[in-house]
Amino acid sequence: MITRRRLIAGAGGLAAMAVAGRVAPSRAGRDPAFAETLGPAAVPEGRATVALDLVAAERPTALPCFGGRTLPLWTFSDADPLPVVRMRLGDRLVTRLQNRLPRAGEHTSIHWHGIRLPNREDGVPYLTQPPTVVGESHTYDFVPPDTGSFFFHTHCNTVEQLGRGLAGLLIVEGDETEPYDGEVVLAVRDWRIGADGGFLPFLTDRGASAAGSFGTVRSTNGADVAAATVPAGADVRVRVYNLDASRVMAVGVEGAEAAVVAVDGIAVPPFPLTSWVMGPAMRLDLVVRTPADGGVATVVDWRPATPKTLATLTAAGERKRLTAFSPAPLRRAAIAVPDLLAAERLTFALSTTATGQAVGAALAAAGGMEGGVGGLPGPDDLCLSDRTFWAINKAAWPADGHNRLPPPLAVLRRGGSYVVELVNTTRHIHPIHIHGHTFTVIGSNDRPLPVHHADTVLVYPKERVEVAFVADNPGDWMVHCHLIEHQETGMMGYLRVA
Ligand code: C2O
Ligand code: CU
Repeated sequence: MITRRRLIAGAGGLAAMAVAGRVAPSRAGRDPAFAETLGPAAVPEGRATVALDLVAAERPTALPCFGGRTLPLWTFSDADPLPVVRMRLGDRLVTRLQNRLPRAGEHTSIHWHGIRLPNREDGVPYLTQPPTVVGESHTYDFVPPDTGSFFFHTHCNTVEQLGRGLAGLLIVEGDETEPYDGEVVLAVRDWRIGADGGFLPFLTDRGASAAGSFGTVRSTNGADVAAATVPAGADVRVRVYNLDASRVMAVGVEGAEAAVVAVDGIAVPPFPLTSWVMGPAMRLDLVVRTPADGGVATVVDWRPATPKTLATLTAAGERKRLTAFSPAPLRRAAIAVPDLLAAERLTFALSTTATGQAVGAALAAAGGMEGGVGGLPGPDDLCLSDRTFWAINKAAWPADGHNRLPPPLAVLRRGGSYVVELVNTTRHIHPIHIHGHTFTVIGSNDRPLPVHHADTVLVYPKERVEVAFVADNPGDWMVHCHLIEHQETGMMGYLRVA
């Protein structure tokens, strides 16, 4: 157990401060504070095979946040609109996916977000597997190598399939050095519901060419505000997931002390939570010291003009802990440490395409209304051949899907260390995700950023962020913006590790 003094020192040691005009010195992956304040390595004790049956289908569902309405959700299971799969580190997950989606030609696949798995299990249609067509099934079989808070979602027509609900949580246990006193899982996402009670279009030109099409109804665990009862005076683990396609949030806790213990599922030395900005697909594991019996702590998104309460944690019972708050660290993940001195450098420039600029200008001229909706200018009216608004290194992912693959963005040598500089030349924020590898976020040219592992990192307008990793997983791995409308309108490519 670390002391509070140590906790603060650890967090300070992590801060890779910006140096004017350039990214902070690249020694972060070796920062002794990074490993020293973590628990011992996680041990794969699980031996079980977990069999998971997922049937992608339309299931009319009335979530509490829908206010009495029933919507035609697309989900994976009859039992739960958002299945939560729990397994132990070392367990093998064997998943049978059946595609029973209600529309001919609605291919699907499952991507296991953040899991460093063999390439053939990665669930990217055409790149790593044929798409699973309606009426067919596909089996995924792998042993997750890391503990943590992960999730899965489809990787076909993701804007609509995720927009209608197709996702689930995957929690790999075995990372607690001392068990906490309870656990709460919070899955946050919006729903795009129109005045007629049906879904609004999931992709709009206005949203796709800007910050995304936001939902009209917010939710946590399917409710406007999630409510949980937790033990009093206790250290409770809270796993926060941003499952939204567009929304960036700033998570904080009111009415209780809280510390961050993992980012994107992977342990960090505990540091006090003020607020943590989470883009789409990002996860955050917190430990909250709950109030006395009857007290309420709230989990809040501070980012909107009017902060949004995501969850209430109501404490009940005898006080569990009498010592000062100093949460136990999680166990360390066995992720290779990049050799930053020998690392090869790659630069990925995130930009708009000429089309994106034209659409932006045309929409601004039209009063910023939604393109293609209600008789307002859409791409055809603007004589655009396709919807590619975004690019990586000037290459926009082909608009017609994955079936005509462009060349890789880069070919990486297996076992080599790489530093990737993500350069945002646009006016919008981009959560950039790399498949198959967990990288170390080294720093930003623009803001203090603690060194931490992640699979998705936010890159702010005009910002440059450096991440590093060892290319130790052979195959073709997607790199894309996880603001799904950006992904689907060009901001996507792949790395080949050979
Ligand atoms: Cu969760 Cu390719 O992404
Ligand atoms: Cu983006």
